[in-house]
Amino acid sequence: MLHVIRSDKIAEYAGQEVTLKGWVYNRTDKGKLQFLLVRDGYGFIQCVALKDNFDPGLFEKILHLNQESSVIVTGNVKADKRAPGIPGGHELSIRQLEIVQAAEEDYPMRLKEHGTDFALENRHFWIRMPSQWAILRVRATVIQAMREWLDSNGFVNMDTPIITPAACEGTTTLFETEYFDHGKVYLAQSGQLYNEANIATFGKVYCFGPTFRAEKSKTRRHLTEFWMVEPEIAFCDLNGMMEVEEQFVSHIVRQVLEERQAELKSLGRDISKLEKIKPPFPRISYDEAIQLLKKMQDGTENREEKELLNIEWGMDFGSPHETKLAGHFDQPVFVYGYPTKVKAFYMEPWPGRPEMSKSADLLASEGYGEIIGGGERISDYNLLLQRIREHKLPEEAFRWYLDLRRFGSMPHSGFGMGIERTVSWLCGISHIRETIPFPRTINRVYP
Ligand code: 4AD
Ligand code: MG
Repeated sequence: MLHVIRSDKIAEYAGQEVTLKGWVYNRTDKGKLQFLLVRDGYGFIQCVALKDNFDPGLFEKILHLNQESSVIVTGNVKADKRAPGIPGGHELSIRQLEIVQAAEEDYPMRLKEHGTDFALENRHFWIRMPSQWAILRVRATVIQAMREWLDSNGFVNMDTPIITPAACEGTTTLFETEYFDHGKVYLAQSGQLYNEANIATFGKVYCFGPTFRAEKSKTRRHLTEFWMVEPEIAFCDLNGMMEVEEQFVSHIVRQVLEERQAELKSLGRDISKLEKIKPPFPRISYDEAIQLLKKMQDGTENREEKELLNIEWGMDFGSPHETKLAGHFDQPVFVYGYPTKVKAFYMEPWPGRPEMSKSADLLASEGYGEIIGGGERISDYNLLLQRIREHKLPEEAFRWYLDLRRFGSMPHSGFGMGIERTVSWLCGISHIRETIPFPRTINRVYP
């Protein structure tokens, strides 16, 4: 009987006969020896076919196997340090090979360099390549680790609506659609407002789902559809929230290091940098961040950099500022107390300094920029109503949200972590479009 295994467990089968079901990623022709690099979803493994072991008809077919042909291979597992693959170090001497489908010859994503546009147009094939496979495996582990931490720390999972009557994060990035007789509705930018209702039932909750922003910017950090996890905590202030965040993020990093070593190594990630990540994370105020940036600006001779680093109190950070700030620390760093006017309408003001808010962003280490945005929410009815009016938001759509401040209001805080930005930081890749199976950006909705 065939013993079908996963290639990531191959080390456990050294010396035994096993079967793998997968696809030929590459074939190296050495005459009587054919080296097939087979991927089975769990890894990439070298399989060796020796001419003498096959009837001539089958060996002839192997000689013509194209990239991506689907195969079932059976053979003996041999430990060999030199064997390529992910994780590598083992190979299969093929005794039997079944060709399930002989792939056609004109596979678009041959093993050579492809331009990014071409790769994106062929994303359905691009995801088969080792780098993309590795990144998406890391993504799945990030999601698993994040749920695991929240579920075992008293957070109740709540699913918040995608179709919503009002904006959460500003009105400039809304996707709108007509909704029967109700007029315009919007795709959710965040589940936060609903979680503020959910905490008054459950205390600690989180939602995890797709979020939508009609971002007109073409940066390396923005998608129009991305996945966000949003924990929300009753009776919790800004400090309490940052303590949760650092535990949460550290757990995710640890888990990824434990389970996705082979993938990170295959991506060339410097793992030692991630191994350093431990709570507590440094915290600097927005005021201090501005001073630090000004110092960095004074310190540089590079005119272009000087210009990019230009900033005054009251301005939001751009990517260059975040990159510079985060590059200053070897841990993720909290920047707290942003100006009220650069943050969303719901932010609690700083006591005694109303121009400042009880907000905090977490900037990833090594210059990857903001991965988490969060803060303490306004709990006073009158102040919240005033803010909704100042921001010219439709009061009627926020009636239920205001009601939360009339019945059982309390200090509360929460945050949102973008999965794609987190994965790009952990994998050490520069553009977040590679961290989601099928990215949506301002100029792409295919495939
Ligand atoms: O800072 P943001 O906009 O915060 C919120 O949406 C809050 N309502 C969250 C909360 O407090 N519950 O977004 C949070 C995170 C960012 O730090 C970033 O990681 C990610 O979501 N994010 C994006 N990721 C990819 N593409 C975009 N266009 C993103 N916008 C935000
Ligand atoms: Mg933000």
